[in-house]
Amino acid sequence: MLLRYKIGGGFLLFFVALLIVLTFVLSHTSACKPVLPVSSGAESMKALVYNCYGGPEVLAYTDVEKPVPAADEVLVRVIAAGVNPLDWHYMRGEPYVMRAMGIGIGAPLDSRMGVDFAGVVESVGMSVTEYQPGDEVFGGGPGAFAEYLVVPEDRGIAKKPANISFEQAASVGIAGVSAMQALRDYGKLQSGQKVLINGASGGVGTFAVQIAKIMGAEVTGVCSTRNVDMVKAIGADHVIDYKNENYLESGEQYDLIVDMVGNHPLLSNRDVLTPDGKFVIVGGASGNWLGPIARPVGAAIISPFVEQEFTMILAHLTKDDVQALADLMESGQLTPVIDRHYELSEVADAIEYSETGRARGKIIIDIGQATE
Ligand SMILES: NC(=O)c1ccc[n+]([C@@H]2O[C@H](COP(=O)([O-])OP(=O)(O)OC[C@H]3O[C@@H](n4cnc5c(N)ncnc54)[C@H](OP(=O)(O)O)[C@@H]3O)[C@@H](O)[C@H]2O)c1
Repeated sequence: MLLRYKIGGGFLLFFVALLIVLTFVLSHTSACKPVLPVSSGAESMKALVYNCYGGPEVLAYTDVEKPVPAADEVLVRVIAAGVNPLDWHYMRGEPYVMRAMGIGIGAPLDSRMGVDFAGVVESVGMSVTEYQPGDEVFGGGPGAFAEYLVVPEDRGIAKKPANISFEQAASVGIAGVSAMQALRDYGKLQSGQKVLINGASGGVGTFAVQIAKIMGAEVTGVCSTRNVDMVKAIGADHVIDYKNENYLESGEQYDLIVDMVGNHPLLSNRDVLTPDGKFVIVGGASGNWLGPIARPVGAAIISPFVEQEFTMILAHLTKDDVQALADLMESGQLTPVIDRHYELSEVADAIEYSETGRARGKIIIDIGQATE
């Protein structure tokens, strides 16, 4: 009996010690290292880089080596880039679980910043067949806050529709794909169904409202007073101004709720979902430790016990979905909403603005000219 207690106590101590070490390792932030100079003979470009986690002050606008495309890669001269909350999560290395998931423990493994881009193909690797120099393209890839980036041709890249500007195309990547996957793949939205978009005025929300309309749904957007007209203008059938009304008290029932905000307990949404409705969590989790895990874990725990479905999405920038969004823009059904513009040297300010959570549509970084 005594031995059993001793073994149990030993295990408990071991797990507590492990937890303390893990907590320390994951939350530890190493000191910033200086940006390495461009090696002699190499071509350089301007880019935004970071070598340590922290606030916008860790971002450096500097000269780095211009990338060279591998055999399967496309080298893009970036005309515009789009900002996402993901950028400041990378910058801060928060939530800490991201560090364990591969972005780097203590310091970022990859110093490049930015994902969404639009630009002109400069050159292509030997095995690239789909693109050639001069093609206007857009999509997502690591290092979009730079004059050039390389993207494998089979990843999130597509030709830019001629009727869409570079800045509009640069705004699409993560937000557009997340909205599409939330509605179509996770929400299984059908024509004629009622969908509520919580956070309708943000990057993902402005795409979600439009895509849900294209899919034939009856769309309710939730936003603040100052954004009501904009959310109506992009197609919402109904708008709930969260400053004056709580959607939980609307008396309506929705087949699908897509949630970018996370401001209401999961279970309280059951009353505004149809009996077999779906609740898709896109974002809104706050905090560095338990906050981001609490809602998805809560969703996984709730779902088996209720008829309604609660899930969290992890969007993937696929070639097919970037192409699908290109098609919707080309046909004039989908038009990105742009909020503010910044220069490449001002990315820190752009990210600071994104962190306020007050963006109306997308934030754009202007980097190059369409014609050199
Ligand atoms: N899971 C994934 O794969 C995935 C993919 C993309 C994004 N995300 C996450 O999804 C979230 C949204 O992304 P985003 O790009 O849309 O962010 P965003 O552009 O920063 O969203 C800002 C918008 O949220 C609105 N908002 C703030 N509080 C609100 C409330 N209580 N009710 C309704 N609207 C409110 C703001 O309007 P007001 O200023 O008027 O309040 C603003 O227009 C972020 O947390 C992001 O990290 C997750």
